Amino acid sequence: MCGIVGAVSRSGAVLEGLLDGLRKLEYRGYDSCGVAMFDPGLANGAVQIRRKVGRLTELEKLLADGALGAARAGIGHTRWATHGKPSDENAHPHTDGSGRMALVHNGIIENYLELRAELTADGAVFRSETDTEVLTHLVGRELARGKSLLDAVRASLRRVQGYYAIAVMALENGPDGKAAARLVCARQGPPLVVAATPEIGLCGSDVLALLKYTRDVVFVEDGDIVELAPGRIAITDFDGKAVARPVRHVDWDEEAASKGGFPHHMLKEIHEQPDVLARTAFDRILQVEGDVDFEGAGFDDARLRAIERIQVVACGTALHAGMIGKYLIENLAGVAVDCDFASEFRYREPVLAPRSAVLAISQSGETADTLAAMRLARERGLAPLSICNVQGSTVVRESEGVILTHAGPEIGVASTKAFVAQVIASYLLAVRLGRARGKLSVEQGRELLDELRRLRPRLEGLITEKTVERVRSIAVKHLKAKGFFFLGRGVNFPVALEGALKLKEISYVHAEGYAAGEMKHGPIALIEPGMPIVVINSPGRVADKVRSNIEQVKARGGHVISIGADEQSHALADESIPVPASSEWLSPLLNVVPLQLFAYHHALARGCDIDKPRNLAKSVTVE
Ligand code: AGP
Repeated sequence: MCGIVGAVSRSGAVLEGLLDGLRKLEYRGYDSCGVAMFDPGLANGAVQIRRKVGRLTELEKLLADGALGAARAGIGHTRWATHGKPSDENAHPHTDGSGRMALVHNGIIENYLELRAELTADGAVFRSETDTEVLTHLVGRELARGKSLLDAVRASLRRVQGYYAIAVMALENGPDGKAAARLVCARQGPPLVVAATPEIGLCGSDVLALLKYTRDVVFVEDGDIVELAPGRIAITDFDGKAVARPVRHVDWDEEAASKGGFPHHMLKEIHEQPDVLARTAFDRILQVEGDVDFEGAGFDDARLRAIERIQVVACGTALHAGMIGKYLIENLAGVAVDCDFASEFRYREPVLAPRSAVLAISQSGETADTLAAMRLARERGLAPLSICNVQGSTVVRESEGVILTHAGPEIGVASTKAFVAQVIASYLLAVRLGRARGKLSVEQGRELLDELRRLRPRLEGLITEKTVERVRSIAVKHLKAKGFFFLGRGVNFPVALEGALKLKEISYVHAEGYAAGEMKHGPIALIEPGMPIVVINSPGRVADKVRSNIEQVKARGGHVISIGADEQSHALADESIPVPASSEWLSPLLNVVPLQLFAYHHALARGCDIDKPRNLAKSVTVE
């Protein structure tokens, strides 16, 4: 996830405004940043780029000479690296080398390799490892063919598969023959907001970046291409047809704006999950080969074939993701997986099998127990691998193979999108392992990856107003409940644990996640008439067993809330929250969303602090 800004002014300098916008967007990523400034008076009008690895303060040092302080147009970017390590060369903005245009991008160009090959053959000189640079050269090539910036962007985006929010600036000769900076932006996926006062045209990744100038903004939709100038916002679609978008007045304060208009970071992050799927998975999918491409050598065939057992160490939600990963890796790749709470693993004198790897799963990459467990396993000779959301964190730096989840910064203490990203990463690892070991054929790999790609619209369907309202109405009905059970089996057993943890964390209500088949061995004694029992069930090998468990619970007066894609379970339940069908292995990614929303709305109705629950911290860096 990255932050982009752009401004073109009638008469005033824009550099400080761009930097202010980037400061407000640093929460979206901060491993490198840069600006491209345009002013016909500057260096014969050539675009002036300043970009630097590191935080914004590093960039400000580069700008301290004031040379670009008078520029009346520019774009800027703060980066969350996906393609290409954080470096000066990979930092945005990128140019085509003509000196007359520059581009910033948030998102992923999935077909960048084939475009890069085509453009290179066409004479383009690439200077970075990024996917973004292909867009720059596509636009530059169209400009060189005499197109206007707007038409050049439109033609270029027609070639692109992926998702993006971009701002492109180029010098163009106006009707008066004078060179002036033109600003065009476009959206397909990640957020983009634009505005225009009589003095200035602006764009940014969210409202926060524009509040310095105006509170009257336009939220750009997917497929929109926008021309911006002082006093002018012109939106067209891919066919050049004019599109009308309302101007909205936002009275958010800065804290509110950083939530993108959502009341809480947690809710915003739940809604980001379809994008997280795209960001974590789509550009790693090798559809033709039916395989997965992880950055770095840690996951090549030779290394993976040498692994006969995987030891997962993690805490809390991250361990629940690892427990799902166990089912995925054992069933898809045929590799044995052990899962331990990191805090238990590090003190139990573990007996570890030879030819094993340790897989540390952590959103923050700084959790003390997980780090200690990972170090212990590595001392015992296990290859250290990790799934982590923070580039440059300690877990990442101490791993030989890292699968970075591109969930973007997760601010809500209760983990949601990071959990989904961890499960996606585990699924990709299972496919990679299965292909490396010959357990999965090309065809099987293609099918599994196709199913993952098809999940995005189903995830989006779960966060529509209609679905959210259904969950909310059920969640608030049980405010007086003294306690909840969350039951699941198989790959959805960890989902039951996660649903219970979410509710506990933010509602402070007792909730117990349990293996559905285990209830009869004692816990069923706890069931009282009317006690809410959330049962997660989806079509698969254990669906009929879970239905029996529902019957057992109902026979004792439990009030069953069924979540999942199993219609028969919904028929048996007192209340139900249907979820779109999917493969058994991907059902946790869908089933967890109503559970996150259930916890959110229950906690909200209880008046709890959603983003900063009592007694908790986002990253537990102490024992
Ligand atoms: C999850 O909602 C909790 N905030 C907590 O269980 C968290 O998952 C755990 O502390 C692990 O954190 P990590 O992923 O940053 O290592």
